[in-house]
Amino acid sequence: MPLRVRLTLWYGSALATVLITFSVVLYVITARNLRDDVDESLKETAATAVRSLEERGFLPLLDEEDLLSQFPELARIDKFFQIFSPSGTITIRSPNIKRYEVPLSQKALETAFLGQSLLETTKYPNEPQLRLISAPITYRGNFLYYIVQVGTSMESIEDTLRHFFILLTVAVPIALAVSLAAGWFLAGRALRPVDAITLAAQRIAGGDLSQRLAMQTAPDEIGRLVETFNNMIGRLEASFRQIRQFTSDASHELRTPLTVMKGETELVLRRARPLEDYHTVLESNLEEIDRMARIVDELLFLSRADMGAVKIELLPVSLEALVEDIHRQATVLGQDRTIEVVLGTIVPARVQGDELRLRELLLNLVENAVKYSNPKGKVTINLITEGQQAIISVTDQGIGIAPDNQHKIFNRFFRTVEARTHTKKGTGLGLAICSWIAETHKGCISVQSELGQGSTFTVTLPLAPRPA
Ligand SMILES: Nc1ncnc2c1ncn2[C@@H]1O[C@H](COP(=O)(O)OP(=O)(O)OP(=O)(O)O)[C@@H](O)[C@H]1O
Ligand SMILES: [Mg+2]
Repeated sequence: MPLRVRLTLWYGSALATVLITFSVVLYVITARNLRDDVDESLKETAATAVRSLEERGFLPLLDEEDLLSQFPELARIDKFFQIFSPSGTITIRSPNIKRYEVPLSQKALETAFLGQSLLETTKYPNEPQLRLISAPITYRGNFLYYIVQVGTSMESIEDTLRHFFILLTVAVPIALAVSLAAGWFLAGRALRPVDAITLAAQRIAGGDLSQRLAMQTAPDEIGRLVETFNNMIGRLEASFRQIRQFTSDASHELRTPLTVMKGETELVLRRARPLEDYHTVLESNLEEIDRMARIVDELLFLSRADMGAVKIELLPVSLEALVEDIHRQATVLGQDRTIEVVLGTIVPARVQGDELRLRELLLNLVENAVKYSNPKGKVTINLITEGQQAIISVTDQGIGIAPDNQHKIFNRFFRTVEARTHTKKGTGLGLAICSWIAETHKGCISVQSELGQGSTFTVTLPLAPRPA
């Protein structure tokens, strides 16, 4: 069921409940008040009649004209009265009652003998209800002299209530219908932007992620929805672009060694050759295979890391021992190109982490420093602590990185033009892995560099809490 219909129905049923309850309560209260008024006025009239008759001193009653001339208040048009003898027979009755025969009920008679008044309702066919009060007139409080009965027709009250009822039964549905129409209209108006968003979202889902919902909406619920939606599409677009880029980069990186291998193999197979030629080609192919295997390994690692499938151990690791170890390996790496790797300041530092991964991180940085150094260059490794942080820096005097590229080098497969001209070796995955390792250790990695002058890579890791 569409939201608009549901909203209108909810609203309508809530309103109907309120209106009907309100009408019923109003009707019941009005009816009761009207009846109470009648009773009150009957009691008053009866009391007046009783007082008048008692004042009269219980002279024998002659007839009604006589009585009415003495007590004009008994001649009220809207009421009739009757005076009964204690035996229940009518002695005097007012003229406006002539139409009906209203006998004194047994109950009224009994109540009168008890010295009390009784209110009753009677009904004659095709006549409005009658409300009656029967009050005793006693001599010295115990001798029943007469019974005065005052009555009134409920006709006007019944009429009033009937009109009121008709008014309610007409007005309530009209009010309900008008409000439902207004509710339907308002719900439609409120939901119109949602329809627009749905249409736009369908267009975007159709494949064009560059589309955005362009709507000038106030910063209300709908405005926030549009903003959230646009942000979401923005992020989706970025990650799709990244995935596409990644896939094309990965294919490209793998195609190069394959092309080399194919070309060399085809060439050597073109005619019969001495054994050494095959040997050379196979050796070169093996090199390319190694290269591809490394790329595939690194890609696999990164995609498993993306999925959260790489487990990191959390054990105490002594950084100074690790750095010294890396220094030894790097010295060997640098020997070929007469690059000197030296240790600067080294202080003891312990972190919680995975030693193998931290080793990989540092080795990647030192390898880069050596790889992108010029011959006879110098690479310095420092390890210091600052507050609760261990800071490892690797500084070289190599080719450096242009400011524009400094934040890109951590992206997968990104290699600067300078790096490409400097050396063919490298796929651009090393630093992506480094930054993942640093982040999973709750640390970070940053770079400071000047093109042609050298670079400093800094890794910050939280120190292990001191054993208590
Ligand atoms: N010490 C450095 N000096 C200058 N440029 C650097 C240095 N370290 C990294 N770079 C730049 O950052 C890029 C990315 O480095 P990264 O280690 O990710 O890849 P790589 O060294 O090219 O390849 P590999 O995946 O084999 O490590 C490098 O290609 C280079 O352009
Ligand atoms: Mg590298």
